[in-house]
Amino acid sequence: TAEVVPQAPEDPLFGLMRAYRADQDPKKVDLGIGAYRDNNAKPWVLPVVKKADEILRDDPELNHEYAPIAGITSFTSKAAELILGGVDSPAIKEKRVTSVQTISGTGAVHLGALFLARFYTGKKVYLSDPTWANHNQIFSNVGIPIAKYPYFSKETRGLDFEGMKAALHGAPEGSIILLHACAHNPTGVDPTLDQWKEIAEILRVKKHFPFFDTAYQGFASGDLMRDNAAVRYFVDQGFELVVAQSFAKNFGLYGERAGCFHVVTAPAPDAETTIARIASQLAILQRSEISNPPLYGARIASIVLNDPKLFAEWEDNLRTMSGRIISMRNALRAKLEELGTPGTWNHITDQIGMFSYTGLTEPQVLKIRSDFHIYMTKNGRISMAGLNTNNVDYVAKAIDKIVRE
Ligand code: LMR
Repeated sequence: TAEVVPQAPEDPLFGLMRAYRADQDPKKVDLGIGAYRDNNAKPWVLPVVKKADEILRDDPELNHEYAPIAGITSFTSKAAELILGGVDSPAIKEKRVTSVQTISGTGAVHLGALFLARFYTGKKVYLSDPTWANHNQIFSNVGIPIAKYPYFSKETRGLDFEGMKAALHGAPEGSIILLHACAHNPTGVDPTLDQWKEIAEILRVKKHFPFFDTAYQGFASGDLMRDNAAVRYFVDQGFELVVAQSFAKNFGLYGERAGCFHVVTAPAPDAETTIARIASQLAILQRSEISNPPLYGARIASIVLNDPKLFAEWEDNLRTMSGRIISMRNALRAKLEELGTPGTWNHITDQIGMFSYTGLTEPQVLKIRSDFHIYMTKNGRISMAGLNTNNVDYVAKAIDKIVRE
């Protein structure tokens, strides 16, 4: 009976968003969820998305029929090119990729986890410590046991590379290793390309299985082709791997749930038939879960990805977003240094992407929320896009106060 259902805790991130919305203080600042805001703290519809939307609306042939189970190929093929580095990717040339349109990044991670739970049994998944909170429950939900590898060094506020390597070495052979392709969430700390090469070497020796999650392509370096360098390197090394890809952030299509799951098989004479078998199983899983994916967001992205002129405009829009974030990193660091706030603050500008991992402790996070109406996740992560020229001084002064207490 219903009595056996226990109360579950509210999702921390969406709970934070709710608390922020309920807060009546005019000075309140939202540094919680990873969603881009303009300098007036407002959501930003990318101008190129507005254009694509108009093209879509003007199309007299547009209807609301079902998409194929694996989604629309005009979208999924371009999504694959985007993360694998274009049609010259060996995986694309050798037809070793299959792609399934998903309910954004969460749906892609879930489909991948479900697929591995079914066909790569008895393995653990290794998640970075820390990682995006949802990774834990997505893998737990499909029964894949979770282990952690060290990632963030509290001392340097950078990568704990030695700890990471030791854990990957120590993991049982053939483990699933979840890697953030770029702009790590929540830390904003990425391995360098040389470090990625060392990571790849460990994975090769230990026959581990790379599971890339990419939600911030275009936000790390501001260059789409640099932000996929890790994935490209692994593919060039001949790895069999999967990629969960979100278009929520880089297209600002958060609620439209546009995403993709890709499987790349290793180079082999029978790779084409292998990939066909994998595609057939993914179709069965997809059909039982969502039948076929939602169209609107994927259609928007597809219009942009397939039109060179719109694509260039998109890159420009991405530079607008990443550029504003970088200027806020500079402003926040400069203000904290000007105030002489105890500690070092170079990590704010060293870290990249949407987030900064401030180093504020949980009690400090709770105090800054109650005293200053500034909302961030309990681990001290701030979404940089929540800062703007109107509130950055206020936030710096609040951090200064809290750190000195
Ligand atoms: C975040 O980490 O803030 C975003 O990825 C939003 C989400 O779905 O958790």
